[in-house]
Amino acid sequence: MRWRHFRLPFCILFTCNTLCLIRTITLLCIPQELFSARIDTSSTTLDSAMSELLANPHVLAKLRAELDRVVGIDRWVEHSDIPHLPYLQAVVKETFRKNPLGPLLVPRISSESSNVGGYTIPKGTRLFVNTWAIGHDPEVWKDPEVFMPERFLVAGANPAGLKGNSFELLPFGSGRRICPGMGLAVTIVELTLSTLIHSLEWDLTPGQKSIDMSDKMALVCDRVHPLLVLPAKARLHTVKK
Ligand code: HEM
Repeated sequence: MRWRHFRLPFCILFTCNTLCLIRTITLLCIPQELFSARIDTSSTTLDSAMSELLANPHVLAKLRAELDRVVGIDRWVEHSDIPHLPYLQAVVKETFRKNPLGPLLVPRISSESSNVGGYTIPKGTRLFVNTWAIGHDPEVWKDPEVFMPERFLVAGANPAGLKGNSFELLPFGSGRRICPGMGLAVTIVELTLSTLIHSLEWDLTPGQKSIDMSDKMALVCDRVHPLLVLPAKARLHTVKK
């Protein structure tokens, strides 16, 4: 037998082995990627949301009033309450707009040449989508530096969604690379934030006069000074006992 008689089976064997190896590596990487993408992102978003609420007491009071009206003060917030809490949902969306976690999303490479706004983008160009700039663009958002959840509740307006179809709000990216953990992430942030605000009153730590919202640039955009707060008083009857 000659080499050419072995060639095809060898190729198939080689390909199978390589695919198996890739599949094993992929299987090992997926949980690791899911864990690393999960933890930092949700906690940093919660940090931003709590900071914005404590820096804007009128928004905090409005959110608490909604929670007390819908949930009452005899029980904890439950997942089934969330659809009845539009102001909470608007607070979370406004947090994503003003403090996007991945300000430049994940880098892309253009698969073909194109023309965008008069600029030629050659095939193979590395591209970054600046969601931070979009979220702070005064031509898109009125008073973009103001934390104003009401902008998502204007009657008759088509409020921007989080699923990557509204290009003015892309906290989870868009298209085929959109964050696969989006549903889980929004649920974690909405439930945790509402529980923290509904069940406890919060004070800044002694010596802290105001909240510093400046952030530092990294793959995940983090705060320079993470929020430090102390639970001051329990609000729920069940917690007080
Ligand atoms: C508030 C929380 C989160 C935010 C703001 C967030 C945001 C993002 C963004 C902006 C991207 C890049 C998308 C793009 O470039 O189009 C991404 C990718 C990703 N996220 Fe999230 N994420 C969050 C939570 C999570 C959670 C909870 C998980 C998993 C359970 C997760 C898993 C992933 C994975 C695996 C990718 C990579 C997707 C790919 O490259 O194909 N994320 N996320």
